[in-house]
Amino acid sequence: MAANDRKFIVFIGPPGSGKGTQAQIIRERLGLPQVATGDLFRYNLKNNTELGLLAKQYMDAGELVPNEVTIRMVEERLSREDCAKGAILDGFPRNLKQAVALDKMLAPYGGVTVAPLFEVDDDVVVERISGRRICRQCGAVYHVKFNPPKRDSICDVCGGELYQRDDDRPETVKTRLFVYYKQTAPIIGYYFCRGILEDINAMQPMEDVTRALLDVLAKYGIR
Ligand code: AP5
Repeated sequence: MAANDRKFIVFIGPPGSGKGTQAQIIRERLGLPQVATGDLFRYNLKNNTELGLLAKQYMDAGELVPNEVTIRMVEERLSREDCAKGAILDGFPRNLKQAVALDKMLAPYGGVTVAPLFEVDDDVVVERISGRRICRQCGAVYHVKFNPPKRDSICDVCGGELYQRDDDRPETVKTRLFVYYKQTAPIIGYYFCRGILEDINAMQPMEDVTRALLDVLAKYGIR
């Protein structure tokens, strides 16, 4: 595969807008791995690594983990074999410094291919996050009302236990939204200026969001 045939998709959107849900739905179909910085931090925390313990302080407060460690972690992740055809970046970049760092990492492959922007109202974010449940074992995402598991608190995929994230408490969600508007929203203009920003109405039911997303990706030769 030629270097610039790699496809890098950057999901942008507030917490709870459905980025992780959609990445889980489309990753196999597209044959691209989901590189989710939040999941990488949670994995490190579960394994009690130094990085996990550092990240926890910031995540619990709803703040961003410092750029230096986050950028290094993503660079290492993207260098792995499973990213040979590209990746779905879910949760990175989260500010302009990270966006510039990502451009440097991807320069040999033609840069970011497309940046879908998941648009949802703030009150929907709060409702989605308060009902979210995640599998401790495989990371599958559920919602008590919009996407409930077949058996209460048990994952349909692997039978693991479902839990609520520590940073999904209402006070932390407010800070995460504030951080999104202040630090992450500027990257919307960054990708808009390059002509690769694509609005997705993420207020629709999940299947309709998937359809809209796949239509947009097809325009960029991703199918
Ligand atoms: P991270 O884990 O990335 O959290 P986030 O961006 O806040 O996004 P979420 O995972 O909350 O939401 P989502 O958009 O994936 O929504 P989901 O699909 O789950 O980051 C956590 C923390 O890690 C950060 O606060 C920061 O501290 C740190 N961090 C991460 N990346 C970093 C970075 N680059 N730099 C520095 N720090 C970083 O959906 C939400 C719920 O809604 C689910 O229950 C789902 O079932 C439901 N749902 C989804 N779609 C629909 C729909 N269409 N209709 C109805 N319900 C739906």
